[in-house]
Amino acid sequence: MSDVLWLATQVMTRVTRDQAYANLALDEVLRQHPDHRRSVAEVTELVYGTCRLMGTHDRVIEAASRRRLTDLQPQVVDLLRLTSHRMLAMRTPNHVAAQQAVDQARTRIHPKVAGLVNAVSRRISERSLDEWVQTLSNGLDSIDALALRTHHPRWIAESYRDLLGDEAEAALLANNLPAQPVLVVRPGLMRLDDLPGDDITPTRWSPFGFTSRQRPADIAAVRDGRAGVQDEGSQLVATALATAVDATGPWLDLCAGPGGKAALLVGLARRRHTWLLANEVAPHRADLVAQGTRAYPDGVQVICADGRAPAWLPDEFAAVMADVPCSGLGALRRRPDARWRKDTADVAGLTGLQLDLAHMGADSLAGGGVMAYVTCSPDRRETTDVIDALLAERDDLDLLDAPAVLQAVAGGATSGEALPDVSVPGHPLVAQLWPHRHGTDAMFLALLRRRSA
Ligand SMILES: C[S@@+](CC[C@H](N)C(=O)[O-])C[C@H]1O[C@@H](n2cnc3c(N)ncnc32)[C@H](O)[C@@H]1O
Repeated sequence: MSDVLWLATQVMTRVTRDQAYANLALDEVLRQHPDHRRSVAEVTELVYGTCRLMGTHDRVIEAASRRRLTDLQPQVVDLLRLTSHRMLAMRTPNHVAAQQAVDQARTRIHPKVAGLVNAVSRRISERSLDEWVQTLSNGLDSIDALALRTHHPRWIAESYRDLLGDEAEAALLANNLPAQPVLVVRPGLMRLDDLPGDDITPTRWSPFGFTSRQRPADIAAVRDGRAGVQDEGSQLVATALATAVDATGPWLDLCAGPGGKAALLVGLARRRHTWLLANEVAPHRADLVAQGTRAYPDGVQVICADGRAPAWLPDEFAAVMADVPCSGLGALRRRPDARWRKDTADVAGLTGLQLDLAHMGADSLAGGGVMAYVTCSPDRRETTDVIDALLAERDDLDLLDAPAVLQAVAGGATSGEALPDVSVPGHPLVAQLWPHRHGTDAMFLALLRRRSA
C-alpha cells in the first residue's frame, strides 16, 4: 500500500466531501500522520496537481468508466482522480499506479470495487493526457475546448478569453504552475541590503521585494515582522498608491485583512510623516492585520468595522486603499482547488459590495486625495465595470494613469527593467498584471483622484 496515495486520498475526501480548502486539509492530514513527514512533498504535488486538473480527470474517468461520476462511489472517484493524475501528469509508472489503486480500493473501500478500479485505471493508462484532451475535445466549441486544454471551468476560460483573446491560453496555463513565494521588506524597518547577500534575489519591479532559497519561516526578519511574504503584484499596487499620493493627511486601508498591503502602506505612510488607519470587517482578519504590522512602533491603528458604515469621518484621507473582496480569479495558481468551487454567480454576487465600498472609499478621500481600487481578479465585472459605474454615478473623481505610475514604481527597483504591458483594451488608464506576463498574481489597479471642492 502506498502511503502517499493513502494520505492523498484522505486529503481529497476532505476537499470534495467536506468542501475543505486543499491547503488546510493537507496540513490537517499531515499533522495527524507525523510519521509520514518524508512524504510531504510527494503528497503535496499529487493533491495540488489533482485539484488543478480535477475537471479534466473527471471527464477522463467518465469516458474510461463509461459512467457518470454521480453513479460512482465518491471514495472511488477520488481514488481514480488521483490515479488518473499519477498516470497522466506525474512520473508514476502506469502499472504501479494501477496496482496501488487496486490495493487501496480492496483494503480501504470494499473488495467489490477493486475490479472496477482496476478496469478504469487500465483504460485511463491507454492514452496520454494530450491524447485524452484531444479525444474529449471532439465536438466541443472553442471555449469548451480551451477550458479542457487548460484545465479550467468554461466560465473562467470565457472570462479570460474576453480579456485576452488568443493570449488567454497562456494566461490560463500559467494558473497551473505553482507560485514561488515572494517576500517583502517593510520600509523603515529594514532594507534589501540588510538581508544576507548570498541567498537573496531582488524582485524585478518592486523596490521592496525579494526571493530567497530559504523557507520564509527560517528567515529571522520574517519571524520578527520586519519582512513578510507578499506577492510582487500586491507590493506593486500598494507602492503605486503611495507614489500617486501628493496630498498630506492620514491614509486609510478600507479592507485590510489579512494585512499584507497594510504592512507595506504603514512603512510608506511613515516615510511621508503620516499614519495608516487599517480597517477590516472580520475580527479574526483584523487580528491578522495587527499581527502583520506589529513590528512598527507607531504609524498604524487597526479597527474592525464594516467599510460601508464607516467609523471615521468623510473627506479626511489623503490616500485610500480599496482592496475589495473579490472572486480571487487572479490567484488561482495559489489555490489549486479554487477554480472548481467558484461559479460565475459568485462574481456577480460581489459586484454590488465592490461598488458600495468604492463609493465609501471615495467619500473618505479629502479633496486632492487618491484612492486605489484593487482586485485580485481580472474579471471585467469586478474591475472596469465597477470603475465605469463609479464614474457614472459621481462627478468628483478623475482616473489617474495607473500604467504610468506602475512603470515609475518599477523604474525605482534595482533591476531597472520596464514592466511588460499592463494595459486593458478600451480602458487606457487602468492596469492589469498577469501571471504569464509579470509572474505576479493577476492584480487589477485603478487610481482615482478626488477633485477639490
Ligand atoms: C482582498 S481582501 C484584502 C486583502 C488585504 N488588503 C491584504 O493585502 O492583505 C478583502 C478583505 O475585505 C474584507 N471585507 C469584506 N467585506 C468588507 C466590508 N464590508 N468592509 C470592510 N472589509 C470587508 C474581507 O474580510 C477581506 O479581508
